[in-house]
Amino acid sequence: MLSLFAQVDQYIEQLVANEDTELVMARQAISKAGWADQSISPVQGKLLQFFARSCQAKRILEVGTFGAYSTLWLAKALPPEGKLITIESDQEHAEHAIHIIQQSAHQHQIELLQGTGLHCMTELLSQRGAPFDFFFIDADKPPYLEYFQLAIKLARKGSIIVCDNVIRNGKVLDETSNDEKVIGVRRLNNYLKDCKEVTAVILQTVGNKEYDGMVLAVVN
Ligand SMILES: C[S@@+](CC[C@H](N)C(=O)[O-])C[C@H]1O[C@@H](n2cnc3c(N)ncnc32)[C@H](O)[C@@H]1O
Repeated sequence: MLSLFAQVDQYIEQLVANEDTELVMARQAISKAGWADQSISPVQGKLLQFFARSCQAKRILEVGTFGAYSTLWLAKALPPEGKLITIESDQEHAEHAIHIIQQSAHQHQIELLQGTGLHCMTELLSQRGAPFDFFFIDADKPPYLEYFQLAIKLARKGSIIVCDNVIRNGKVLDETSNDEKVIGVRRLNNYLKDCKEVTAVILQTVGNKEYDGMVLAVVN
């Protein structure tokens, strides 16, 4: 039987977070590829859209594309002149995601950079382009703090930064954990305590996915 959290997630999904055909196709393609689904849930996709819309995002940066599922949710929040850059280090994931993106009505608004998050974000910084309005950080956990600090440098006042998977089934409570993912997200979470550059909160997330959480930050 589905847990109560999963049932309520489905209830919310059918009310306000229905997948369109592109999102259904992206999710099905992940299972056809034989991969465990690392994507966010539909309700979390809608939450990202909500934040992107609320800061009127015209430029979005995502770190961790996987099957482009979150990419598509976010691209759908852009105005016609908007642009989304998504970064993926794994070649197989990147090639798969490009194939999915090419089938989207938003394909001309999405650019996939293949490389590590740290390398690509540093490159973007050196290009001194327009600031990004919204960031979704959802890649490897050890450099989460560095991703966050780079995001602040690539942002403007009022930009929103969301970082996924920062509670990890409550494992973040274990100060002595030697799990590199826990250590990585704890470095970011601890940094927020005295960070004057953002106004931040950490939201616990329940639903279809494992018990986890997201950092939500707005740049001061
Ligand atoms: C949790 S999945 C992303 C899921 C996606 N955001 C979604 O919700 O549809 C994490 C992705 O980050 C990628 N990744 C891992 N290390 C990375 C790195 N150093 N730089 C960029 N991407 C990385 C993985 O290959 C994987 O595809």
